[in-house]
Amino acid sequence: MNLCIVGTGYVGLVTAACFAEMGNNVVCVDVNQEIVEALNRGSIHIFEPGLEEIVQRNAEQGRLRFTTDLNEGLESSLFVMICVGTPSKPDGSCDLCYVHQVARDVGKNMTDYKVVVNKSTVPVGTADKVRALILEEQEARGVNIEFDVVSNPEFLKEGDAINDFMKPDRVVVGTDNVRVAELLKALYAPFARSRDKMIVMGVRSSEMTKYAANCMLATKISFINEIANICERVGADVNDVRQGIGSDQRIGRHFIYPGLGYGGSCFPKDVRALIDTAVSNGYEPSVLKAVDGLNMRQKRLLVDKITAYFADRGGIEGKTLALWGIAFKPNTDDIREAPALELIAELTAAGMRVQAFDPAAGDKAKEALTENSLVSIHPAQYDVLEGADVLAVATEWNQFRNPDFGRIKKTLKQPVIFDGRNLYGAEFLRRYELEYHCIGRVANA
Ligand code: UGA
Repeated sequence: MNLCIVGTGYVGLVTAACFAEMGNNVVCVDVNQEIVEALNRGSIHIFEPGLEEIVQRNAEQGRLRFTTDLNEGLESSLFVMICVGTPSKPDGSCDLCYVHQVARDVGKNMTDYKVVVNKSTVPVGTADKVRALILEEQEARGVNIEFDVVSNPEFLKEGDAINDFMKPDRVVVGTDNVRVAELLKALYAPFARSRDKMIVMGVRSSEMTKYAANCMLATKISFINEIANICERVGADVNDVRQGIGSDQRIGRHFIYPGLGYGGSCFPKDVRALIDTAVSNGYEPSVLKAVDGLNMRQKRLLVDKITAYFADRGGIEGKTLALWGIAFKPNTDDIREAPALELIAELTAAGMRVQAFDPAAGDKAKEALTENSLVSIHPAQYDVLEGADVLAVATEWNQFRNPDFGRIKKTLKQPVIFDGRNLYGAEFLRRYELEYHCIGRVANA
């Protein structure tokens, strides 16, 4: 089949590459000339394991090409997939200007029937708006060309996006049109071999499903973080509690790892966007507000622990923190809404120096923190320990899981680890005479 994919961000590029991999002809459109040129040379601008290889292979074999010209994609394609960004506005609502622009451009340029598929995360009602904008543009041209607008939200995780696309848990399609649903089923057949994986529903339910899924996951995280915070106060160990509750299939083992709160480009934005949708429809979303509020508090957790540790040791001003991990999670260079950034901002505001290392996010962090003279980003994991008082871990990269504790003990001025991801065993660290502060466990010291 012939596809036109608009947007070359995570969703657009992964979608384009994976559809091309299954033999479809894909034209990927982006307004950014530089990105398009780089992609046509086979170089990708995002960090996603396995993606570059698939992009290069399919481009070489002629099934995937990149352009800034929407018409080039529209001409030959039955499907037009909208995969552009939907950033947050300052009030938490979703900024739909890019989605609307694509809708207008499609309306201005289409010459035959199209299935317009919305994969961007958008508030309920956006498909109707997209339809209205396309109609408006057609009217202005004096044409009446048939089209359908479908919602088809994406459930990719950064760092594991190829796997998520190739072997989805489900493919949600929002349309009332049976014929269009069959077309989408045929397109996704190589990925969702079992028909049960295709879930067809109304457009609004599909748009809502995306938010409900992310908000449910964010709720699980805030919930376990709350349990962890209580565990710490009553002498329980959240690791044991997590296993104890996760073995109940109704609860499940996934997404109940406590930490420094969720970050990234999706959960914080989507929780706030659904809060905004609820409020603007006259409903007070108390659970979602609590999820968001707890998450903001959780991001400060290590700030409080580090500040408390230094309280009777002369305060944190003038001290130096070695920091492992800046990305919002491992296997990505993405630092958007990363708890580490909050940690760095708060501690340096109080006069502490931070020497940080991240296996992938170093360059992005350098760029984001260039104004902050108390932060330095280092290219090697153990370099940051030199001259540092204590160590904190903010991202659970594999290379931090089994470090050289002897070297940590020898290099730090004070033998203390603040672990925001519960990576280590307290007993084990005691053997190295390392003081250990973690999340929701009585292990401390
Ligand atoms: C998330 C969803 O998992 C995807 O299904 C969804 O498609 C995507 O958003 C999106 O809407 O585009 P992503 O933001 O890439 O994917 O990251 P996750 O792996 O879900 O992690 C989100 C955050 O939750 C991270 O900061 C992570 O550290 C945190 N987390 C996750 C926890 O603190 N505890 C857990 O048990 C799991």
